[in-house]
Amino acid sequence: MAERAAASFANRLLAWWDEHGRKDLPWQRPRTPYRVWISEIMLQQTQVQTVIPYFERWVGRFPDIETLARAPLDEVLSHWAGLGYYARARNLHQAARECLERHDGELPSDAEALSQLPGIGQSTANAIVSQASDRPAAVLDGNVRRLLARHAAVEGWFGTAAVRRRLWAEAQSRLPPDRGADYTQAVMDLGALVCTRSRPSCEQCPVATDCLARRRGLQQSLPTPKPRNRVADRDLHMLIVRDVEGRLLLEKRPPAGIWGGLWCLPDGDDLDAIEERLGLAVEPQRTLPSIHHRLSHVRMTIRPVVADLAAGTQVQCSGSCGWFGPAQRARLGLPRPVAELLQEMDEGELS
Ligand code: ADE
Repeated sequence: MAERAAASFANRLLAWWDEHGRKDLPWQRPRTPYRVWISEIMLQQTQVQTVIPYFERWVGRFPDIETLARAPLDEVLSHWAGLGYYARARNLHQAARECLERHDGELPSDAEALSQLPGIGQSTANAIVSQASDRPAAVLDGNVRRLLARHAAVEGWFGTAAVRRRLWAEAQSRLPPDRGADYTQAVMDLGALVCTRSRPSCEQCPVATDCLARRRGLQQSLPTPKPRNRVADRDLHMLIVRDVEGRLLLEKRPPAGIWGGLWCLPDGDDLDAIEERLGLAVEPQRTLPSIHHRLSHVRMTIRPVVADLAAGTQVQCSGSCGWFGPAQRARLGLPRPVAELLQEMDEGELS
């Protein structure tokens, strides 16, 4: 964002926050590095109103880094119980120990060192630095991401590197030179209270006049959600034929596509398709129970058919198919549902 527009963005946001923002949260009074850190970790996945009583209890029992580092993990976890995502509590405990060992019992004051501690990513590190030291540092948690994706009309899912880079640049370019702590709280508050996920309150937003999503009517469609897998249903017949020695006919799949390069029972949309491809004729004997198998983009129903080769049939196997006994099959790469099916057959469960 251009410098003048960015300065105007920050000024309007801070003026809005002075009037409407949250200023009496328990970690804001007093705003020590330790208290800010604990609050930021608790707030990573949990709403402010839920966090407040947990925060009060926590700082009552573990008022500083050293107390936390020396407390038994069980007690740390019991003070977390109910907040969920317990890795966060384990990481807090571990990080406190590392501070004791490597940082003279203090939380590091720069974002780089902070982000080396367990449980602290770039945005959390900057949230701690800006609030604890009142220095400008860009944050990009879920609420801020939504706000910036809309204000700058950034399309695309945040999981992609290009979109992430772009949003970090938008966050960085809007930072005012001072009021670092207030600005962090202000962008978070605007995201949480006004620029909400559904039905944002644009009429109350201090930066609505230059919001590109609003200008283009894109508030509802931004930020772009994670692309959903489109799942197809696929019915696959699989042919189980043996030669006179009891060996099974297997076919190597082409390198690209589902189960690329693996050996498999001959398969196709129906038996005719399989017969035609392999130049053989079979007499179906019985159909085994269907197998449901989920791949990332395909919900597959496998229909195994036990068949005899028609009298006089010669299978013309080029390099891509062959007859395999149990010992030889054990050395082949088979798709999991096929391997399981053949194992059940070998163990006589399906005979
Ligand atoms: N979420 C993460 N940090 C927060 C903060 N300081 N205030 C409100 N919500 C937050």
